[in-house]
Amino acid sequence: MGDPYDAISPSELQKEAKKVGLGESPPTDLIQIKKLLTNGEKILEVGCGTGRLGKLLMKDYDYVGIDKHKQYLEYFREILRKKGEKNQNKFLHHISFENFQGKGFDTILFPWSVITEFEQKNQEFILKKAKNMLSEKGKIILDNPAKGTIYNTPKGFILAKFYYDDWKSKFQKIGFKEHKKLTYTTHNGRVREIVVLS
Ligand SMILES: C[S@@+](CC[C@H](N)C(=O)[O-])C[C@H]1O[C@@H](n2cnc3c(N)ncnc32)[C@H](O)[C@@H]1O
Repeated sequence: MGDPYDAISPSELQKEAKKVGLGESPPTDLIQIKKLLTNGEKILEVGCGTGRLGKLLMKDYDYVGIDKHKQYLEYFREILRKKGEKNQNKFLHHISFENFQGKGFDTILFPWSVITEFEQKNQEFILKKAKNMLSEKGKIILDNPAKGTIYNTPKGFILAKFYYDDWKSKFQKIGFKEHKKLTYTTHNGRVREIVVLS
């Protein structure tokens, strides 16, 4: 089967963000996520896409964005080029998280349901990989629709839904000392959950 992202242009991805309630300016998820961050900290965004969040995060944090789809990164790069940003190769990388090597991140962000794009059998490995890339007091932040709410699933996608309540008994075994869930509602009434692991 082909990659479903091949059929989604960068501008269509932006429209999808609007549909799920994350297309506002500033984005509702960003407002919530920023409450968990400290200015200047080192952040990795896994699946930064068109830079919906990244272009804003890079203003206040030491930001690194990675994505495995070139068409979105090109879109993000163009935005930054227009702003006169010359160092984008230092912090934007065309690579999958599975192949990415890095360390010392204060936050690793899996925004907008990105964790659900990893097969269920691999999600624990992905969380462990992220954990090993954190700084001593680092944390992982995951943003997903809350349990019992609508999931937008564009054609061709198979999503491995991720809910805090299904995972909470496993986090300690994986190596996280602390974990919590926060919920928020988007402007179009969708309830989402943010999971914080540290
Ligand atoms: C739903 S979009 C989110 C884009 C952006 N973070 C946002 O919030 O607007 C998911 C993104 O994750 C990327 N992605 C999916 N799996 C990935 C992986 N294994 N490694 C890196 N990027 C991945 C996709 O290419 C896509 O750009």
